Amino acid sequence: MNTNKIKHIGVFTSGGDSPGMNAALYAIAKSAEVNDIKVSGFLKGYEGLIDGDLIPFKSHELKKITQKGGTILKTARSKRFLELEGRKKALQTLKANKIDALIAIGGDGTFRGLLAFSEICDIPFIGIPGTIDNDISGTDYTLGFDSAVNTAIENIDKIKDTAESHNRIFIVEVMGRDSGYIAIHSGLTTGADAILIPESGKDFIYLLNKVKNYNNEEAFLVVVSEGDELGAELVASKIKEINSDVDLRITRLVHVQRGGNPSAFDRMLGIRMGVAAIESLLQGKKNVMVGISHNQLHLTSFKEVVKQHQVNNELYELLELFGK
Ligand code: F6P
Repeated sequence: MNTNKIKHIGVFTSGGDSPGMNAALYAIAKSAEVNDIKVSGFLKGYEGLIDGDLIPFKSHELKKITQKGGTILKTARSKRFLELEGRKKALQTLKANKIDALIAIGGDGTFRGLLAFSEICDIPFIGIPGTIDNDISGTDYTLGFDSAVNTAIENIDKIKDTAESHNRIFIVEVMGRDSGYIAIHSGLTTGADAILIPESGKDFIYLLNKVKNYNNEEAFLVVVSEGDELGAELVASKIKEINSDVDLRITRLVHVQRGGNPSAFDRMLGIRMGVAAIESLLQGKKNVMVGISHNQLHLTSFKEVVKQHQVNNELYELLELFGK
C-alpha cells in the first residue's frame, strides 16, 4: 500500500531509442500498479511533455512488449525543450494532469534537460540510462548497449567471412557519438586488427604500424567508432597512402545497431531499473539516475551523471595489448 504523496507518475523515453526501454516501461507500470500509483506515458520524449500528449499505462498490456526493441512511447530529440518557453509549457502540462513525479529514460542530453527543468519544477525526477552508447557516468551499463554490441558482433562476424574469402581490408564503422564503448567491445570480441575510438590518441599509430607489415594475403579488420576524430574515409585513405595495392571496403552498421529485440541482459536491466525507479520515488529520492555497478543498483545525482564519461583503465590496457 502506497502511503507516499505520489499518486500519478509521468514517464517518457528520450534521445536515441535503445533495446530494453520497453522492458523498463513494463516494470515501471507493474511496480506502480502494485503500489497503487497511476502512470501516464508521454509520447515523443520532451515533445509530448510540452504538447500534453500522453497515454495511460496498464501493466498487463505492457508485458507483451518486454521483448521488443525501440520504444512504444516513441522518442525525439526536442529542440523546443532547450528553450525556457518549452519547459514552461511542459510545467503547465504536468500541473494540468496532476502529475507529481517524472521518470525519464534516455541519455546524457535527457538528464541535462531534467536538470534545467528542475530549476522551474520541483516535483521529483528519476532517470534511467537508456542509450546504446554506454557513455553515461554513474553506471557500468546503459540500457541497450549489450544488445547493440551483440548486433554489431553478429554483423562483423559476417563481414569477416567475406573479408577472409577475398583477403580484403574491411573498415567497419560502429555507432557511438562521442564514445568508443561499442567499438571496443565489438572489436575485441571479433578479433579486430585495429580499433579506433574517440577517447584514444594512440590507436591510429598502432594501426599504421600494422598496416606497414600487411602483405595483402589475409583479411584485415578495422573497427572504428563513428565518433573517432579520423572517421572511416580518412582512415581508408591513410591506409592506401601506405599500401596502394590494398583491396579495401568500408561498411557502416549505423542504425541496425539500435534496433532488434533486447538481449537477456538488457531486458533484465530494464526490469530492475524500472522497479528501482519507482522504489526510489517512494523513498523520497529526487533528481537522481538509477545505475548499476558491481551488479548492484544505486543512485547518482544528475549533476554527476552529466559529467564527461571515461573509458575505464582496464579497457585502455586491453586496447593497448591487442593494438600491438
Ligand atoms: O542513441 C545514440 C546514437 O545511436 C549514437 O550512437 C548516434 O551517434 C546517434 O544516436 C544517432 O542519432 P540519430 O538517430 O538521431 O541520427
